[in-house]
Amino acid sequence: MIKPGTDNGWPGVIRKYASFLPVNATTPVVTLLEGNTPLIPVPRFVAAIGGNFDLRLKYEAMNPTCSFKDRGMTMAITNAVARGARTVVCASTGNTSASAAAYSARAGLHCVVLLPEGKIAHGKLSQALLYGATTVSVQGNFDDALRIVRELGETGLVEVVNSINPVRIEGQKTAAFEICDVLGDAPDYHFLPVGNAGNITAYWRGFREYRDAGLSRRVPRMMGWQALGADPIVQGHAIAHPETVATAIRIGNPASWSGAVEAARDSGGQIRSVSDEEILHAYKLLARTEGVMVEPACAAPLAGLIRCVREGEIPAGSVITATMTGHGLKDPDTAIRVSGFTPKVVAATREAVLGVLDL
Ligand code: F0G
Repeated sequence: MIKPGTDNGWPGVIRKYASFLPVNATTPVVTLLEGNTPLIPVPRFVAAIGGNFDLRLKYEAMNPTCSFKDRGMTMAITNAVARGARTVVCASTGNTSASAAAYSARAGLHCVVLLPEGKIAHGKLSQALLYGATTVSVQGNFDDALRIVRELGETGLVEVVNSINPVRIEGQKTAAFEICDVLGDAPDYHFLPVGNAGNITAYWRGFREYRDAGLSRRVPRMMGWQALGADPIVQGHAIAHPETVATAIRIGNPASWSGAVEAARDSGGQIRSVSDEEILHAYKLLARTEGVMVEPACAAPLAGLIRCVREGEIPAGSVITATMTGHGLKDPDTAIRVSGFTPKVVAATREAVLGVLDL
């Protein structure tokens, strides 16, 4: 007998963690059953970087729109519907717009996304367009687009679903809960990329709330990584023209700046930056040692971990988690460009194929 129901045994992050979220029994939950993403051990990668610890990747690519944004967006769109909004708007380096567009389609809302022209990875652009969002390319960077979105929000005509909307952070903190649920406690360190800084703020809140509720015994050191050239928090001032191959975190004036600084300071962690070269090295190394494909921004914390290993900063036997925020297929152009390979073209015969193989 086919069982009735819609949740496959996993109800999405709002219903799963309702007691930690600003919802009640009558909240009209909009969900694509996001969350419950795998925590993948990567021992071959650890061996390749000369580490002596247990590293697990929180693989957020397994969310419905292939990034961590779905955790916050289920909250933001649920809240927009509850408030009677008709149109939602966001600025985005790509993933927020993909998620906002998908959850808006699910809820029957009109979605408007503002994207920095020419700086959006193609997979992400394809999502916003296919989900039917009104897609506006702004001739400026993410920070310009977010400024305009704030101004649009002030008109009262639209609901802003960027992480300046506090319910986004509430939804995103559920990833920290899931990590503790799987490990049985918080890790020693948590590594993640930092762009607009909402996610590091959310994880830090999640880890603290779980400890305070007695569901874990400790909190991790929060290790946030920006890309050199787009590292305002590390530099201590806004950057007018941020640049990095990791377009997801190409941000010069993060909205949750103070949340990131507090997370690092209060946890005994750090916010540092790594170069594009280090990012691309880690990006390829992960794919080739573990078969795990992530988008370049996710490789920033991995590059950071490589640095920490080199500098002897990680005690042997540590338990480390790292958030892989988005899927590698979001940015196929970078994958093809940096892979170092091109397909070999041959005649359609066995001999021709054998001729190009090194068997
Ligand atoms: N990784 C990916 C893949 C992202 O898309 C983002 C942010 C981050 C990391 C950084 O997270 O902003 O919370 O510090 N993307 C936003 C967007 C800015 O518009 O999709 P953060």
